[in-house]
Amino acid sequence: MKILAIETSCDETAIAILECEGGEQDARFSVLGNALLSQIEIHKEYGGVFPALAKREHAKNLVPILEAALEEAELLHEDAQVISEETRVKISEILTREPGLTEAFFEFISQCEPPEIDAIAVTAGPGLEPALWVGINFAKALALIWNKPLIAVNHMEGHIVAALAKEPAPAALSGTGRNLVIEHIEMPVLALLISGGHTELVLMKKWFQYELIGATRDDAVGEAFDKVARMLNLPYPGGPEISRLAEKSRNETSDTLFKLPRPMLHDATCDFSFAGLKTAVLYLLKEKVDLSEREKQHIAHEFENAVTDVLWKKTSRALEDTGAQTLVIGGGVSANTHIRRTFTEKIKSDHPGVSLRIPSAVLTTDNAIMIAIAGFYRAQRKEFKTEILAQGNLSLA
Ligand code: KG4
Ligand code: ZN
Repeated sequence: MKILAIETSCDETAIAILECEGGEQDARFSVLGNALLSQIEIHKEYGGVFPALAKREHAKNLVPILEAALEEAELLHEDAQVISEETRVKISEILTREPGLTEAFFEFISQCEPPEIDAIAVTAGPGLEPALWVGINFAKALALIWNKPLIAVNHMEGHIVAALAKEPAPAALSGTGRNLVIEHIEMPVLALLISGGHTELVLMKKWFQYELIGATRDDAVGEAFDKVARMLNLPYPGGPEISRLAEKSRNETSDTLFKLPRPMLHDATCDFSFAGLKTAVLYLLKEKVDLSEREKQHIAHEFENAVTDVLWKKTSRALEDTGAQTLVIGGGVSANTHIRRTFTEKIKSDHPGVSLRIPSAVLTTDNAIMIAIAGFYRAQRKEFKTEILAQGNLSLA
């Protein structure tokens, strides 16, 4: 089954086309086309993602991204298409809130054959609602004109399946990232989801049945990375910048010049709190007027250590409490080198029976491949939709 997936929940416009086969315990995916445009450079100026701007950029980028994905998948066949007046009116209604997109949509659609795909999946939430709506309306318009079923995908479920997906054994050596498999998954699965908007521990007891085990009580971990980076005058997004500075210090010493708190480390729940840690950095910076480069590196190093200590301690507790057999880390922050390294080492020493799944580099930050994979599972369950609403706060459990 070929799935075309659309992701516009934040600052990445992405479309992927995957050939998907198999069942829940042995699914195989082949990436036929994958096009992605990051808006990071545009949002940098504002120090964060600006929703109205994200929406405008998605509207501008969706048609060229679709064309690129179809072309790569060899599914783009030029042929003049007649669009009936009735369909034109319906599509114009669907895209009424996306000025600019309607014209580009008709121009493109009227020149290409409907591609041989079986379903269209789109992120319904969580994310920035204006950004989500553009992707959803675009998906609805495509589904109508090409007469394909629609699937709504939870973005966080996308991050989970991206972490569960591996390259099959021989291909793993070449690392093309074009072939993926999801197999031999031992339940229950515990997922640590860490991104710009989320910090939560979710238990998947059976496929796609979720229970919330712990969550942040204030800031998300990615948000803390971004805010601390801003305090250090580093550009957005802050996670990779902090990581780069921290690694420099870590290569020289394991002792940091500063000490930061590990909020809620010893409390009995699996919840998190990162606001106090961010404030502690703010106080530290108030005391220091002219920070040297070395001091900046040490703050980044200690901040990353503090975050990682808390993430590991709470995840370890959740593994004990739930008896989970598989641990998944997903979301943009899972790209962090120190977090990946620490979890890889500690799982072996503290929970040797648990299998750790971390997404490959291309699948850590937002992308449409993960939306297609999640969409495939939903399609197998025949969860097709005629109407999809953007849900900024959509949760798994
Ligand atoms: O999942 P994602 O791409 O978008 C959301 O759904 O939020 O996550 C983005 C977040 C940002 O806060 C960014 O600073 C953080 O992921 N991030 C990182 C790293 N790369 C991205 N945080 C720490 N270390 C990194 N290497
Ligand atoms: Zn994400």
